Amino acid sequence: MRRIALSLLIATGLGACASNEMSHDRAATAVQAEARSAALADRFQKDLLGALTAAMAAEGPEGAIGVCSRIAPALAAQLSEESGAIVRRTALRTRNPAALADATERHVMESWTDAPLDENGRPKQWSAMEGGTFRYMRAIPTMPMCLACHGEAIAPEVRAAIRAHYPADEATGFRPGQLRGAFSIRWDEAALSRATGVGAATIDP
Ligand code: HEC
Repeated sequence: MRRIALSLLIATGLGACASNEMSHDRAATAVQAEARSAALADRFQKDLLGALTAAMAAEGPEGAIGVCSRIAPALAAQLSEESGAIVRRTALRTRNPAALADATERHVMESWTDAPLDENGRPKQWSAMEGGTFRYMRAIPTMPMCLACHGEAIAPEVRAAIRAHYPADEATGFRPGQLRGAFSIRWDEAALSRATGVGAATIDP
């Protein structure tokens, strides 16, 4: 890449080349950060769904609440520690108040509320640089198996168990196909340059 940039420098003059190289680095960083973020979201989704499905089969929704409330935050912490990014779930209506959305997350999720899937049937994704921070989000759609704990008709004993853990629960009343929430991943400048091998100074001047 350096070599291409250098011949461009000779061909086009310093000014044009310097900005070409800068935007190329920025674009390359964003592509890498997006791929790494998508891989983290994949793992979060797969591991959580696996644990939840097993717990639902073994214990039913009432027993699975405890699994969900222990495993989801533990997975988020583990993936954050491994990657250096901040990995979490968020939602417009939350069960765990720790999942409350910030302004950017709220804005992105509001645009996905009734159509969380893209034209290929995959959860919608979004990413952007925000200052020196790279942010990635992926929609989490409501599926039929979620309704036992997030739907419109939750069994009274399940509702009571949820209330006992989460007195401020707002995450009910969802229908299949609606947006339930999102994975939200955030790389600060230092984490980004460690993860992509590109110097932070070239990412956002
Ligand atoms: C057994 C009950 C149960 C089922 C089934 C269930 N959830 Fe949850 N969900 C919970 C609990 C409990 C929490 C709070 C977890 C925590 O403390 O982080 C939660 C939290 C969430 C959150 C984080 C945001 C928030 O509101 O706190 C998302 C997103 C979510 N669930 C999506 C889903 C999806 C999608 C499905 C179906 C694939 C699903 N859940 C199925 C119990 C359940």
